[in-house]
Amino acid sequence: MDYIFAEGNGRVISGKDKIFGISTLAKEAVARDGKENVTNATIGALIDDNGELIVLSSMVEVLKNMKPAEFAEYAPIAGIPEYLEILPRAAFGDYRPDGYIEACATPGGTGTIRNTISCYSKYGDAVLTSNWFWSPYNIIATEIGRRIETYEMFDENEHFNLKGFEEKIVELLKKQDSLVIIFNAPAHNPTGYTPSDEEWDEIVAILKRCGAGGKKITMLLDIAYIDFSGDSSTARSFLPKFGNMPDNILVVAGFSASKGFTFYGLRTGAMLCITQNKAIADEFKRVTSFASRGSWSNCVRVGQLALAKVFNDEALLKKVFDERKVYEDMLSARCNAFRESAAAADLRTCPFKGGFFVTVPCENDDAVNEELFKDNIFGVAIGGGIRIAISAISEDKCRMVPGKIAAAINKVNG
Ligand SMILES: Cc1ncc(COP(=O)(O)O)c(C=O)c1O
Repeated sequence: MDYIFAEGNGRVISGKDKIFGISTLAKEAVARDGKENVTNATIGALIDDNGELIVLSSMVEVLKNMKPAEFAEYAPIAGIPEYLEILPRAAFGDYRPDGYIEACATPGGTGTIRNTISCYSKYGDAVLTSNWFWSPYNIIATEIGRRIETYEMFDENEHFNLKGFEEKIVELLKKQDSLVIIFNAPAHNPTGYTPSDEEWDEIVAILKRCGAGGKKITMLLDIAYIDFSGDSSTARSFLPKFGNMPDNILVVAGFSASKGFTFYGLRTGAMLCITQNKAIADEFKRVTSFASRGSWSNCVRVGQLALAKVFNDEALLKKVFDERKVYEDMLSARCNAFRESAAAADLRTCPFKGGFFVTVPCENDDAVNEELFKDNIFGVAIGGGIRIAISAISEDKCRMVPGKIAAAINKVNG
């Protein structure tokens, strides 16, 4: 990669934004053929059947009632106290893991990823995630002098590849003193995968086995989609498994209000640590505040305050949850429609349970995706597969798309 004036510092900065390019094509198709004839499955946000962004009106009400000073004032670096207080409930619901829990506000879930890597890995270290992953992980890691390494996410039986996961941790811990693992679940982006209860047990057992030699492991649970992974109340039931970990295994949960409270642009999130060791929890508070100060300083105050108001008012909280439930059910219906239709079309997908995305693995994914453009279907070729944002397309379109993908794969790959 050549730079004119800028310093690359190990980063690959191409300037090309694939998703933006495809979504421009989708917009052109809408202008040409009408929105009912276009499937824009590129957008990572919840969109209604008419193509409009869904915004929880109950959250809008809260925002509208803010006094000027409530949104204009700076927030403390680690977050406003009322927000810090409600965070364990907002993130963990009724399933709070055992241990010392400390929190630090971050601008969305993205901030948690950045701070976890910066605070718990060394320069040059590998950060581990699955081979299907949200591409900004790579940007965040390389931006601060780390790199991503991956394990194959699924085995030959389309189950989570527990063996590959463990082998890769062992391999990296032979070379490094510590390891940050980014684990995005439930409703993983881009696949929609959620581990079963038994798989979560195995994942915890693997972490304990790999940490038995005493090396430090930080398990970042990226729970950005937890409220749209099926049932938002039971989706959290796996969390207590991450309590009572040995001292050398730090668990960090990445809470995001972007999806669950439709606060995408309000940049409201938090990182929460779970540890048995009070000194490590206290240190978490100190180092994450420092990392925040050295990057974005403080976070948007109004988003924090809005969540604090909602979680401190049971009636309001019920209103928000009731409103959201309608959309959770809408997304589940889209998910089921896609699943049934994929089965009918004999289309192989990555195993999925819910969330915003489904991925269809295929060879020549760019060519297959371009073939789909001819049907006005716009997904994203993500290297080895096509990602379809079911969050952004109607149930009818979820029913229609799998057959079209199967036909496109057939045409391109024979
Ligand atoms: C896998 C994953 N993690 C985290 C996030 C965090 O998003 P935000 O920073 O908007 O909360 C996203 C958003 O798209 C995501 O897809």
